[in-house]
Amino acid sequence: MVLAFTWCFFLMTAGGLKLWEGSIDLIKALSSDMQDGKLSFGGKRILELGCGHGLPGIFACLKGAATVHFQDFNAEVLQHLTIPNVKANIQKKFPYLTDVNEYRSIEADTRFFAGDWGEVHSILPFVSSDEIAGYDIILMAETVYSISALPSLYELIKKCGNSPHGVVYMAAKKHYFGVGGGSRRFISMVEEDGAFASSLVSEVADGSSNVREVWKLNLK
Ligand SMILES: C[S@@+](CC[C@H](N)C(=O)[O-])C[C@H]1O[C@@H](n2cnc3c(N)ncnc32)[C@H](O)[C@@H]1O
Repeated sequence: MVLAFTWCFFLMTAGGLKLWEGSIDLIKALSSDMQDGKLSFGGKRILELGCGHGLPGIFACLKGAATVHFQDFNAEVLQHLTIPNVKANIQKKFPYLTDVNEYRSIEADTRFFAGDWGEVHSILPFVSSDEIAGYDIILMAETVYSISALPSLYELIKKCGNSPHGVVYMAAKKHYFGVGGGSRRFISMVEEDGAFASSLVSEVADGSSNVREVWKLNLK
């Protein structure tokens, strides 16, 4: 994983657009859960929502996911930021990666979807239904800042999660001052609805922003 993080660092410093802290918090939390045997990407279907640079989705690719679908609002972001990042990380040769799982990760099926959270389910291939299993793992970093967007985002993860084993990892600031959203506001909505069990994975108070959190939601 050292090289993957090196490439991530390269992308962060070279990219002109902001990379939000939550993406890195999320990757650290995923890595920690993997080390503790609580999470595996091997052969799984992954969806990253509001991906921007797409680093958590890239991490999933490098860790053996079978499918990683990246979603963002703007097609331009996907074309000019996400896709080049994915190509730079996934299509590079990693000569020292001899482990079979690591090699397979380079073969991940990656696809990109532009659209609003209220509508994008109509073009996502793995929306859960009687015939189709949803995504095994949904990743999202810094997506819960706008109060008005929370209901459509929540409905989307309910539609896309693989019932009953789907998991969502969400990284966000506890509160976004001035816009009203935040991890706690989103988790209140989740707990009120009752479709997921929620647990706090990590808290980051490093002084670079207000307090950030990573939450895990398990479909019941
Ligand atoms: C703060 S950025 C976070 C980007 C990236 N995940 C990161 O941590 O660096 C929020 C992302 O969510 C997307 N987004 C916000 N509202 C959306 C909506 N209603 N529908 C679809 N995407 C949306 C934005 O386009 C943006 O890429």
